[in-house]
Amino acid sequence: ERLPELLQRMPKAELHIHIEGSLEPELIFELARRNAVSIPYSSVEELRKAYAFSNLQSFLDIYYAGASVLLQEQDFYDMAWAYLKRAQADNVLRAEIFFDPQTHTARGVAMETVVKGLHRACQDARGQLGVDAELILCFLRHLSEAEAFETLEQALPFRDKFIGVGLDSSEVGHPPEKFARVFAKCRQQGLHLVAHAGEEGPPAYVWAALDVLKVERIDHGVQSAKDPALMQRLAQQRIPLTVCPLSNLKLCVFPKLADHNLRQLLDAGLCATVNSDDPAYFGGYMNQNFSETFGALGLEARHAWQLAANSFEASFVDAATRRGYM
Ligand code: ADE
Ligand code: ZN
Repeated sequence: ERLPELLQRMPKAELHIHIEGSLEPELIFELARRNAVSIPYSSVEELRKAYAFSNLQSFLDIYYAGASVLLQEQDFYDMAWAYLKRAQADNVLRAEIFFDPQTHTARGVAMETVVKGLHRACQDARGQLGVDAELILCFLRHLSEAEAFETLEQALPFRDKFIGVGLDSSEVGHPPEKFARVFAKCRQQGLHLVAHAGEEGPPAYVWAALDVLKVERIDHGVQSAKDPALMQRLAQQRIPLTVCPLSNLKLCVFPKLADHNLRQLLDAGLCATVNSDDPAYFGGYMNQNFSETFGALGLEARHAWQLAANSFEASFVDAATRRGYM
C-alpha cells in the first residue's frame, strides 16, 4: 500500500480544530448575505488573498473578523456541519472541537445560540456521518480573568453539551497563570482541561499549563523542544501534544515544513498528534496536514500508525470506545 492511501484511509481523531477556523470564505460570504452583515472584502478571491500571515496575531485579527457573520443558531450549525462532513471524508472517527464563545457573546450573540447550534451538528454527525464529535469551550486569553469567569457562568447551564475547556488566542504576554482560578473552578466541575502553550510562547508556559492549570493535553507545544527537562516530562507522563503542522508553517513558527520538529517529538517518545487548527485559513484539513508533513519530513508508514494510535490515546473517549477505534 502506498503511503498516501494509508494516510487517507487510516482511522484518526482530530483533537485541535477551532470551529471558527473551519469557516470557508464561501460560507463567510453566504452568511454575510443571509444576515446582512457587511464585511470589508468584495469577493471570495479578495478575502482568500488576505490569508497571508506573519505570526499568530496577524492571523487572529482576520479570524475574528471572519467570525462576525455568525449570528443565528443555524449559522453555527451550518459551520460545524460543513467541518464534520470534511472530517468524515478524511476518516476522522472522533473530533474534539474548540469553540470561542467570547468572540460571539461580545457581539450580542447568546451563549445558548452558539452552544445549541454547534451541539446539534455534533449530534447529527454521530447518526448521519459516523463521526463522534464533542465540544471544548475555549477562553480567550487576551481577555481578562473576570471575563473568563463570566463566560463560564453563562456556559454552565449547558454543561452537558461540552466536555472540557481550553485556552487560546494571543499567547505571548498572557501566561497560563492568569487563568489559574478559572481552571481550578472548571476542574471542580469535572471538565477536561487543555490549553494552547508553546506555540509562540516559551517552554515556561508549557510548564505552567501543566503545573498551574493542571491540563491533560498541550495544544501545539512545539516550543517544548527547547527544554530537555520538559521533553523528558512530556515523554515520561505521555502528555499529548496536539501539533498542527500547516498552521505552524502559515504562522511562521517554522520557516519551512521541512524544518518542523514533529519527527523529533516522536523520536523523543512524546504522544504527538497531527491536527488542522484552522483549516479554512491554513490550507488544509487533516489529510492535507498528514500528506504534506509526511512528504516534507520523509516520514513513513510506522509514523502514520504511531500518530493514529496517539490520536486515540490522547482523546477523551472512554477506554472501551477507544479499543473499538484502535
Ligand atoms: N485560535 C484559533 N487558532 C489559534 C491558534 N493557532 N493559536 C491560538 N489561538 C487560536
Ligand atoms: Zn489552535
